[in-house]
Amino acid sequence: MNSILSDRINQMEESATLAMAKKARELKVQGVDIISLSLGEPDFKTPKHIQEAAKSAIDEGKYFAYPPVAGYQDLREAIAKKLREGNHIVEAKAENIVVSTGAKHSIANVFMCMLNEGDEVVIFSPYWVSYAEIIKLAGGVPVLIEGTLENNFKATAAQLKKAITNKTKTIIYSSPCNPTGSVFSKEELEAIAAVVKSKEDVYVIADEIYELINFTGKHFSIASIPGMFERTITVNGFSKGYAMTGWRVGYICAPLFIAKACEKMQGQFTSGGTGIAQRAALAAIAGDQTPSKEMEKAYLQRRELVLGLLKEIPGIKTHVPEGAFYFFPDVTAFFGKQSGSHQIKNADDLCIYLLEEANVSVVTGAAFGAPDCVRLSYAASEEELKEALKRIKVALAKLA
Ligand SMILES: Cc1ncc(COP(=O)(O)O)c(C=O)c1O
Repeated sequence: MNSILSDRINQMEESATLAMAKKARELKVQGVDIISLSLGEPDFKTPKHIQEAAKSAIDEGKYFAYPPVAGYQDLREAIAKKLREGNHIVEAKAENIVVSTGAKHSIANVFMCMLNEGDEVVIFSPYWVSYAEIIKLAGGVPVLIEGTLENNFKATAAQLKKAITNKTKTIIYSSPCNPTGSVFSKEELEAIAAVVKSKEDVYVIADEIYELINFTGKHFSIASIPGMFERTITVNGFSKGYAMTGWRVGYICAPLFIAKACEKMQGQFTSGGTGIAQRAALAAIAGDQTPSKEMEKAYLQRRELVLGLLKEIPGIKTHVPEGAFYFFPDVTAFFGKQSGSHQIKNADDLCIYLLEEANVSVVTGAAFGAPDCVRLSYAASEEELKEALKRIKVALAKLA
């Protein structure tokens, strides 16, 4: 706490994933051989044709000036076309699209534009760490509905119905989900949409950033359901499916008044996203999709590898994630155990133990609203994954 700083920042939690990554980096600097399975970062390189588009954009010399606040018109048109043709969001037009500096920025814009003090946001839990902090920053109140391991961590329409009050402004979920890898089916989203439509003035924020890493082969966008376009802010971006985390490009597709509000907000905060990165994003969305398909295939192979290895570890309970690149195992079997000076009271303790004993970093589920679990990212090479899982198995076997 520092009284010179605002209450706003003093009350904000640090991102647990970034904190774990920082701790792992510090140990690495000391020469410890750390395997990091804590970050949500593809380990692939951005596909060549996307890199080339950025180089050409520099050579063309046209993209050095401030870009339009909502993004270049041709990129917005390409995104709208993709949403109409690929996601069946037939109403999507360029005017509904706002391009931002990563999907995280898109989500921040939306909450800043939609929430007044005390407005409630229903979050499908387990959930991505940043939702709750951004909601609180915008004056909102997070209300969690919880999925469990038994139902693949998917909260239901019935839970949503109970959670909605006259203060509810919007709901938010990610599918495929970070941290669980779960994917909502068409039927599940239709049931959720029916609840939303039965209430006046409740909106949906559908975070679809892991769309291109979906092993079911069936991505479904809630905004494609008749009557839902006007109620939905679809969030997506380039970080995960195109291995473009550092390029920082994300977007929303929203009803016009929300898109206009986000443009106004962004105009005062950051202006339009980086010009060169937007040219790369255009090549990504309008160009060859083969590299993304290949990455998806590699993630699926790794999922199978890690699933097999996790099953060999006594005490670990896991579901089979259908997308993204995370496992979210239940680790309660280790609570109350100890090894040397390490007492494992909860998932936080277990993460520290695994970092220090196995030199593998994973993230506590507490950061995602699920304190019985840990999140393990398999966006790492097969060799690293095999070695990491071997070390985890040995370390966990020492707990008694
Ligand atoms: C569920 C989810 N939404 C949004 C984001 C933000 O992505 P970016 O800001 O890199 O576009 C992430 C990144 O980890 C995520 O996991």
